Amino acid sequence: MTGASELLTLRGHGPRRGDSLSNLGLIKDGALLVRDGVIAAVGTRAELEKLPEARGAEKLDLGGRVALPGFVDSHTHLVHAASRAEEYELKIAGASYEEIARKGGGILNSVKKLRATTSEALKKRALAALKQFAAHGTTTVEAKSGYGLDVASELKILRLHKELASEQPLEIASTFLGAHVVPEEYWGKAGGAERYIQLIEQNLLPEIGEKRLAEFCDVFCDRGAFTVEQSKRVLQAGRQWGLAPRLHAEQLSRTGAARLAILMRAASCDHLEQVNKSDIQALGKSDTVATLLPGCDFHLGLRQYAPARALIAAGAIVSLATDYNPGTSPTLSVSMILSLACTQLRMTAAEAIAAATINAAYALRREKSIGSLEVGKQADLAVFEVADYREIPYYFGVNHCWMTVKRGRVIHAPEQAAN
Ligand code: NIG
Ligand code: FE
Repeated sequence: MTGASELLTLRGHGPRRGDSLSNLGLIKDGALLVRDGVIAAVGTRAELEKLPEARGAEKLDLGGRVALPGFVDSHTHLVHAASRAEEYELKIAGASYEEIARKGGGILNSVKKLRATTSEALKKRALAALKQFAAHGTTTVEAKSGYGLDVASELKILRLHKELASEQPLEIASTFLGAHVVPEEYWGKAGGAERYIQLIEQNLLPEIGEKRLAEFCDVFCDRGAFTVEQSKRVLQAGRQWGLAPRLHAEQLSRTGAARLAILMRAASCDHLEQVNKSDIQALGKSDTVATLLPGCDFHLGLRQYAPARALIAAGAIVSLATDYNPGTSPTLSVSMILSLACTQLRMTAAEAIAAATINAAYALRREKSIGSLEVGKQADLAVFEVADYREIPYYFGVNHCWMTVKRGRVIHAPEQAAN
């Protein structure tokens, strides 16, 4: 591949912290040599043209556009049955996310819908979403269960993750989020949450672990969901079945969830709107990625975004994701998230891009194979119809992704390039 006016390689060692978050490893007039879906060489066009192997290679001209590693969307609730447009109206009229949830709306609304939907219908919706992800430059997505909340429905979602991973080109990292909220059938009875956690420990996790249906275990640790103690129990049980922990933390209230994530060496803790100064310092010293999800605050019309600048200054591994879900962030566009990161989180375009590529790869523990354009990594690319990488977040509400490549294969392209 040649003709990238700017090739953002994101090369380098380790996750990006502090000042290094702005380092894109930019090559002007860049080129890539790909062999069997893996990057064999990266450099300027002139450098690559000298390689004997490049002479016989099939050429793909990027026409002066900007190329970067495919986005890694490390937080999505991919499988769900329907939108919650009806709640959007309530929110606009002034109802809060938590008020809607207390009345059995919110996550439980999506649970009712999912339980009543066939696997085929869920798959159709998820496939359409994955196509859109690819069209927006994403090449890897994490996908959480959590709208089933009984044995059959949680397993239905996790089995779908596996099917989807083998039947379409995007890479999928599967996460078990059985502890999303306590399902309605356990409400109003003494020890309801306790009995539901027992179901997770005794009936769900053994099956998930044995069949390898997930690689991560997540918990929504917040007011109205699970306490820090309960979250710890679920994550420990998950770990016994080989599932690495990650957490929904400090979104609606400060609970100490970020501390728990650090203590358990979680891959990532996500949201973080409510973190305090000492949490920020602790995240700065930890290897747990701080994943920010500004799409939620935007969609819910909230003013308090996560303190990205303070987290970056403290040295935290800041990442960004869509949190694609029907309740708080119905978007699958990482570039929209980059726009929000710039205007609301005050991140620079370079910081936001590094957060959604290499640092996001760390959040999924896939940094050895994705997240940057380096020799030996997968040839996963997003090519944008812009001349300057800053224009990726600068334009918003328009999709300027021109081409997406997964493991060296074009998976999204303008019509003339696809033929
Ligand atoms: O990441 N906060 C918990 N989970 C989702 C919301 C899920 C929903 O409302 O359906 C989130 O924001
Ligand atoms: Fe989420």
